[in-house]
Amino acid sequence: MKKVAVITGAAQGIGRATLELFNDREYITVGLDIKESDVCRGRSDCEFLRCDVSKEEQVKEAIDHINTKYGRIDALINVAGIVLVKPIEETTWEEFQKLYEVNVGGYFLMIKHVLPIMKKQKRGVIINTASVSGHVGQVRHSLYGATKGAIIALTRALAWELAPYRIRVNSVSPGSVDTEMLRSDIMVEAKRLERSFEEVKKEREAEQAFGRWADPKEIAEAIFFLTSDAASFITGTDLLVDCGWVSK
Ligand SMILES: NC(=O)c1ccc[n+]([C@@H]2O[C@H](COP(=O)([O-])OP(=O)(O)OC[C@H]3O[C@@H](n4cnc5c(N)ncnc54)[C@H](O)[C@@H]3O)[C@@H](O)[C@H]2O)c1
Repeated sequence: MKKVAVITGAAQGIGRATLELFNDREYITVGLDIKESDVCRGRSDCEFLRCDVSKEEQVKEAIDHINTKYGRIDALINVAGIVLVKPIEETTWEEFQKLYEVNVGGYFLMIKHVLPIMKKQKRGVIINTASVSGHVGQVRHSLYGATKGAIIALTRALAWELAPYRIRVNSVSPGSVDTEMLRSDIMVEAKRLERSFEEVKKEREAEQAFGRWADPKEIAEAIFFLTSDAASFITGTDLLVDCGWVSK
């Protein structure tokens, strides 16, 4: 019986690359995203569901459907997220709430509704996508970084809480990954600083030791490793996939 992986944020970027890699490597993959997507086109054992991970009824409905159809969830990979690039005094309460609802609330709701299935199985793997922003101070990313710090803390505590059920919980912290999210982040910064997109991009590339951004597939590979049996003794950890950024 093939294993089942549920991946949020699967319409584009890191989530999409992760779904594609898991599907290529013999997983039944179910992708969730607030946006419509063709990620499963031309693939078998692949299903895409529209779901806003910050809405409990939608999360519950998606997980119930997956449980009824496949009867198991081997891996939950939380990737869906949003970014906010703003000085704190310009940030509205609504923006703060939205950021937390998706980046922390969305992970909470997915984990909450997948857990009864994993606990019954007495096995499972949860991977949360954090960020370098949860490790280092990034100007104008304080609230975004705070959501990612929260995910690292959530991962640590849950690893201990779920160890009796043989459920492993880990996070990945990517550096800069070439996705729409990063490009829009750079665009906002370039506009604010009255500089060109290319100039800001170059600076952000230099934060990685190889002087380039990651391809989303390079993050998917790290997620695949942490999910696999090769990582059977790894729980409660955060894997930096940042090409040296934090170690500098
Ligand atoms: N790109 C980077 O440089 C980078 C670095 C570190 C961490 N991350 C994290 O990686 C994750 C993926 O980022 P990405 O760069 O691929 O971003 P992206 O914007 O390209 O993709 C994010 C996906 O999440 C979906 N999404 C947003 N809100 C949602 C919601 N409420 N419900 C369901 N889906 C929702 C979007 O529709 C989108 O398809 C995020 O958690 C992000 O914070 C990204």
